[in-house]
Amino acid sequence: MITTILAAVAGVLLPLGLSEGPFVLSNFRPLDAQYVPDTSPLAAATTPNRGSYVYGRICGTFDLMTCPGGIDPNNTAIPPSIVGIFNSIPHGSFSMQYRQFFQGDPARVRNFSQSMERAAQTFILCKDSFAVDGLIVDMSSGHPGVGFWNQTLPNVTNGATWTQDILWLEPVTECVNTNLTFDYILDSYIPNASVEHYNLTDHGGFSNLTRVQPILNRDGQHIDLIQHAYKGAVWSNLYALLYLNGTRESSFVGATYPLNSSSSLFSDSLGKVSFLSLSYLNTSGSDIEVTCEGYGGQDTANVTNVHVNCGIFLRPPLRTDGGDPRLSDLGSKWSQNTYSCSSATHASIQRVTFSTNSSSDLQSLQITRTLSGPDVLWATEKTDMKIADVDLFWGWVDDQYENNTSLWTVRAPSFYLPAGGTSMWGTFPEGYPAGAHVGAWGTICKSLSLSQGDTAADYSGRTDFAIL
Ligand SMILES: *[C@@H]1O[C@H](CO)[C@@H](O)[C@H](O)[C@H]1NC(C)=O
Ligand SMILES: *[C@@H]1O[C@H](CO)[C@@H](O)[C@H](O)[C@H]1NC(C)=O
Ligand SMILES: *[C@@H]1O[C@H](CO)[C@@H](O)[C@H](O)[C@H]1NC(C)=O
Ligand SMILES: *[C@@H]1O[C@H](CO)[C@@H](O)[C@H](O)[C@H]1NC(C)=O
Ligand SMILES: *[C@@H]1O[C@H](CO)[C@@H](O)[C@H](O)[C@H]1NC(C)=O
Ligand SMILES: *[C@@H]1O[C@H](CO)[C@@H](O)[C@H](O)[C@H]1NC(C)=O
Ligand SMILES: *[C@@H]1O[C@H](CO)[C@@H](O)[C@H](O)[C@H]1NC(C)=O
Ligand SMILES: *[C@@H]1O[C@H](CO)[C@@H](O)[C@H](O)[C@H]1NC(C)=O
Ligand SMILES: *[C@@H]1O[C@H](CO)[C@@H](O)[C@H](O)[C@H]1NC(C)=O
Ligand SMILES: *[C@@H]1O[C@H](CO)[C@@H](O)[C@H](O)[C@H]1NC(C)=O
Ligand SMILES: *[C@@H]1O[C@H](CO)[C@@H](O)[C@H](O)[C@H]1NC(C)=O
Ligand SMILES: *[C@@H]1O[C@H](CO)[C@@H](O)[C@H](O)[C@H]1NC(C)=O
Repeated sequence: MITTILAAVAGVLLPLGLSEGPFVLSNFRPLDAQYVPDTSPLAAATTPNRGSYVYGRICGTFDLMTCPGGIDPNNTAIPPSIVGIFNSIPHGSFSMQYRQFFQGDPARVRNFSQSMERAAQTFILCKDSFAVDGLIVDMSSGHPGVGFWNQTLPNVTNGATWTQDILWLEPVTECVNTNLTFDYILDSYIPNASVEHYNLTDHGGFSNLTRVQPILNRDGQHIDLIQHAYKGAVWSNLYALLYLNGTRESSFVGATYPLNSSSSLFSDSLGKVSFLSLSYLNTSGSDIEVTCEGYGGQDTANVTNVHVNCGIFLRPPLRTDGGDPRLSDLGSKWSQNTYSCSSATHASIQRVTFSTNSSSDLQSLQITRTLSGPDVLWATEKTDMKIADVDLFWGWVDDQYENNTSLWTVRAPSFYLPAGGTSMWGTFPEGYPAGAHVGAWGTICKSLSLSQGDTAADYSGRTDFAIL
């Protein structure tokens, strides 16, 4: 396909007898653009035949329910009216597809493309912005995220500069120190052995624990993740204190609570970066996730119930006995700080500026973007269904839908993606790639907490497809 894009063509001033001069931009003019295939492992792992991709949705937690605008509980087809609204501007739920997909099982009356959860290429150690098949990826620590871009470059020999408005998803996280640490002495030569004995040490997390219920603002889309993280920290510490039969009065800064691998479930999470549930000692305390996240499955799926993930993050181990942290000496002392973190996914429209001196090389692209997008009309479906029962479509929609009674709309530079049935499980929703961010958060939490069988990346090719 040839797309026409508006580009400024760059040329190099080459005065006779002198060295290469500065780039000068000529006027903006429309140019033919062509699709440039990517050759990265990620592209190799992309299921071809994208035209056969089928969007679909199922509603209901256990018993199927009829989806908004749907025909009957068994029909997974998305009504044309909904597709029309969320495709009125192609920046939303239908701008994305699962990279690897297969058709659903017709015997289950599910006619949609399902995802395969595999890693094709890891970007975890990258630090810059680059383009890969279908995406712009920014791995900078300040403003990470992905933009949805089907890569087309203008057909020019001298290079060009142009801008495009791109749908951007950004993970946002805030953390609060729980003022508790896990401390242990390395008592095994086996590098991958789990830590058998350790202390939970009070650095104020117990003795100075507030008695005031932390607040959560309920101000529409204006959510404050620090409030969520703080609420998670306070409740998490309280549950840990109760489990340890301690009180604020009996504890003190420096108090140690001995634990071992048989008294808790997570000792193999120590010694590395890990993610634990808020109730990591009291497994019965799963309701504190609801308190921190701000909604439960029985709340209404709406624009103010934003998807939030809460959990406890274990920082990398710090060696505390003064020895070299690169050496795993027997008897060495280590400490891991714990933070309560809350995360959400933030959508925006970003104006991305591309510069290239080639019309066929994605690697030579220079990518910059404005971090604050323009105000646009964001919408999500208005239903009275419960969060556990439905995943809502969302996206930038045409201004004509501003007062549409079937939508919640908000005009803003960005939009927090709403919670839905997928938020209850942390999985990749079948047929509904617009909820894949929830699966991504789930994978981060899962893969960090499991000691074996990580699904995010492995070396067998079972999940790391690029190896095969
Ligand atoms: C991207 O563009 C190419 C060329 O126009 C097209 O073949 C391909 O289907 C597009 N990809 C998606 C995911 O739409
Ligand atoms: C939905 O499918 C199930 C299983 O195939 C069937 O028992 C049920 O009658 C169907 N419901 C409707 C409303 O078609
Ligand atoms: C599945 O959905 C697609 C797209 O809506 C349609 O073309 C196809 O006929 C459907 N298949 C079945 C078995 O219903
Ligand atoms: C790119 O431009 C050149 C020269 O203008 C032309 O010969 C070529 O066909 C163009 N390629 C495409 C894919 O449009
Ligand atoms: C941990 O201590 C810091 C500094 O005193 C404080 O700001 C923070 O709220 C404490 N965390 C908790 C969970 O109380
Ligand atoms: C540590 O790794 C070795 C070699 O891969 C393996 O045999 C052993 O079972 C592992 N131990 C633990 C506790 O995972
Ligand atoms: C835990 O703390 C106690 C008391 O401070 C100390 O004797 C013990 O060695 C510590 N255990 C570990 C595994 O750090
Ligand atoms: C106790 O908590 C208060 C309020 O969170 C904080 O200002 C203070 O620094 C804390 N003290 C200690 C010893 O952590
Ligand atoms: C806390 O007290 C209960 C009841 O006395 C006891 O069963 C439990 O083992 C104690 N827990 C710890 C961590 O000491
Ligand atoms: C592990 O902790 C439990 C509960 O605190 C305790 O009863 C048990 O004796 C400990 N086991 C070892 C080997 O220290
Ligand atoms: C969304 O649902 C919650 C209940 O879970 C309610 O408190 C809130 O007011 C609703 N938001 C809107 C915009 O109606
Ligand atoms: C929606 O309603 C507001 C307030 O009544 C009005 O200002 C705006 O023009 C309406 N938008 C459309 C597209 O009708």
